[in-house]
Amino acid sequence: MAPSQEGPKEEKTGPAKRPVMLDLASYSSGQRLRSLDLSANILTLTWEDGAEVTLPALWFRDNCPCGSCRHEETLERRYLFLDDAPPHLETAELVGEGHLRLRYADGHGADFDAGWLRHHALDLPASLEADPPLWGAEHEIARLSHARVMGSEAGLSEWLGVILRDGLAILEGMPAEPGEMLKVVRRVQEPKPTNFGPTFEVMTHPKPVSSAYTAMGLEPHADLINYAVPPDFQVLACLKNDATGGGSVFVNAHAVAKALSETSPDSFEVLAQTPVEFRFHDETCDIRHQAPVIELDRSGQVRRLRFNNWLRGTLAAPSWRAAAWYAAYAELWALVRDPRFRVTPRLKAGEMVVFDNVRVLHGREAYDPTSGGRHLQGCYLDRDWILSRLRLAERASGQDR
Ligand code: OGA
Ligand code: ZN
Ligand code: ZN
Repeated sequence: MAPSQEGPKEEKTGPAKRPVMLDLASYSSGQRLRSLDLSANILTLTWEDGAEVTLPALWFRDNCPCGSCRHEETLERRYLFLDDAPPHLETAELVGEGHLRLRYADGHGADFDAGWLRHHALDLPASLEADPPLWGAEHEIARLSHARVMGSEAGLSEWLGVILRDGLAILEGMPAEPGEMLKVVRRVQEPKPTNFGPTFEVMTHPKPVSSAYTAMGLEPHADLINYAVPPDFQVLACLKNDATGGGSVFVNAHAVAKALSETSPDSFEVLAQTPVEFRFHDETCDIRHQAPVIELDRSGQVRRLRFNNWLRGTLAAPSWRAAAWYAAYAELWALVRDPRFRVTPRLKAGEMVVFDNVRVLHGREAYDPTSGGRHLQGCYLDRDWILSRLRLAERASGQDR
């Protein structure tokens, strides 16, 4: 990599010039560096509040914000440290409002914004979903105004933040018309298509391909667990709900799994270790996936419950294992039905619920289609897109992320 011919860049606007970091997100602006210590090619940064971090020269070179190390249009890294001689830091000095200026022995150099450094080198961006609450029956589902979410970036970011934190939220005051769901969803992404199409109509169908398209009650379940990677979030917008019955149920799957691990660790283990086939098939597809009912992540934490009675296929296991599995599944099922872990709102026309299909099971009471109409419109969303849209909304309102 040729040394940059240009000197360090600074923003030309604003009262205090800040080094340009080729990063569109906003980052802490109130942070200034107090002192620097460079020795043996290792640099220690100390901020005014005393926080400090020590990093090798290669870290700074690898994150160099100049236009030859980072592409000025794609904003992506170009610097290939494998091909370059190990960088040698010659000088480090404080410039402007407590920012950092570096020079390397080969003549390369750049300025780093102190707030950017603080954000990326020390205060790693907090996960938007850290420690989700294990709510139960006492949980009051957050209700937000449709007009506010549609009308402002702040409203949108509030809504997405609640969905990510609680795993569900209800929008109210929405026109109960076909097409309105899409208008809201498109604030985030195009709906994620599945074998049910980009969107689907939850009502009694003359020839139903899914239990959801009948008037039967639906035990709490996760959708599409016959996929290796089921959709992350589900949207259900209520256009009509006049029939007798048809109330909704939402169960905190992680709270249920935790209860099982405490009361019946052996059953938890059987369900976490025994793969089961899940399956959906109709005239157009046959989608199957084998996985345990309790899916753990690499650190052994519960990721999701593959819990859905009508998508559950056939268990292939020897007699002793099948018997243990059925007993364990029955225990889990009883906890899924336990009123301690569920909230039971009744969706009204003009309300739209979005919930996390990984953390929250959903279901409904049976309804009587001769007593009135019931019609929900649904679709699925990706976590990556919800997180991305939230960051954009926060960027628009100047919040750090
Ligand atoms: C679904 C579903 C719930 C309902 O469509 O996946 O579970 O309230 N619907 O009809
Ligand atoms: Zn550079
Ligand atoms: Zn469902």
